Amino acid sequence: MGAPPWDVLINGEPVAPEAATVSVFDIGFQRGYGCFEGMRSYSGRVFRSREHIERLVASAQSLKIPTVDPSVIAGWVDNRASASGDAVVRVFVTGGTNPAILGTNSKTIVTAEPLPGIPTALTLLPVRAPWHSDGTDSELTGAKTMSYGPNVAATQSAKAAGFDDALLVGSHNHVLEGPTYSIGWIRQGVLETPALGHGILASITRAAIVEVARGAGITIVEGVFVMDRLAEADEVFVMSTVREILPVVAVGDRRYLAGPVTNQLQMGFRDLVAAELGLVRP
Ligand SMILES: Cc1ncc(COP(=O)(O)O)c(C=O)c1O
Repeated sequence: MGAPPWDVLINGEPVAPEAATVSVFDIGFQRGYGCFEGMRSYSGRVFRSREHIERLVASAQSLKIPTVDPSVIAGWVDNRASASGDAVVRVFVTGGTNPAILGTNSKTIVTAEPLPGIPTALTLLPVRAPWHSDGTDSELTGAKTMSYGPNVAATQSAKAAGFDDALLVGSHNHVLEGPTYSIGWIRQGVLETPALGHGILASITRAAIVEVARGAGITIVEGVFVMDRLAEADEVFVMSTVREILPVVAVGDRRYLAGPVTNQLQMGFRDLVAAELGLVRP
C-alpha cells in the first residue's frame, strides 16, 4: 500500500496488516454478525468522528454486542488517522466466538487505507432491493452491520451492466439509497432526498449536506419518492463519507448534467470540513 504505517489496531494493539487476523470461529466471519464504520481522515483528522462512533455503538447495541468505551475507540481512530494523513479509517466490532454469549472474544479492529480513486461523476443502474427495510422496521433497521453481501452484489451487477454503481429501488418503485451512499437531487430548486424513516442509513454526509444546503437557503424536502420523481430532477448527486458529494450523470437511460447546485454543495461541504477540522483549504 506504500508510505504510512498501515498497521491495524486489534483491541488497541498494533499489528502489521499481513498479520492482522480474526478467528474463523468469530460470528463476524461466519455470519457477518458485527458492525462497522467507514470514516474519512483529512490530513490526519477525522470528519465527524464522534457521530461515526455514536452510530457504531448504536449498531452494536442493536446487535446486542458489548463494546469498549467510545472514548477508547475514539483514541484508536485518532491514532490511525494521525499516522495516515488522507485515508479511509474503518472500525469493525465482531460478534465474537460464542453466539450464546455475544461479545465473547469480540475484536474491535481499526484499519486505515489509502483513499481509493474517486471519479468526478457517476452513472447509476436502478436495482430492485428486496432485502432492504424499505420502510418496514426490523430490530436491525438503521444498523450498519457487517452483512453487506446483497449491497456488494448490487454494485457488481451494476458494474457488469456498464454502470459505476447501483441505485437501490424498493418494492413500490421507491428510491432508497445506494449500496454505500445516500442519494439526493434538485428539482425546481428544491433539494429532495429519501427520508431516514424509510429505513435508509442515517448517513453522516447526508446530514452535513443538509446543513450546508440549509445555510445556503435551499429548501429541503425529505420524503418517500418514486423513481418517476427522480426522472423529473434537474441534478442528481450521491453522498457518502468516502465520495463526499458527487454528481450523477446517468440513472439508467436518463442523463443528467453535473449542475451548479451540486457544485455549490460540493464547495460548501469542503468548506465545512475545513472549518471543523481547522484545515487550510487549497
Ligand atoms: C447503505 C449506505 N447508505 C448510505 C451511506 C452513506 O453514509 P455516510 O455518509 O455516513 O458514509 C453508506 C455508507 O457506507 C451506506 O453503507
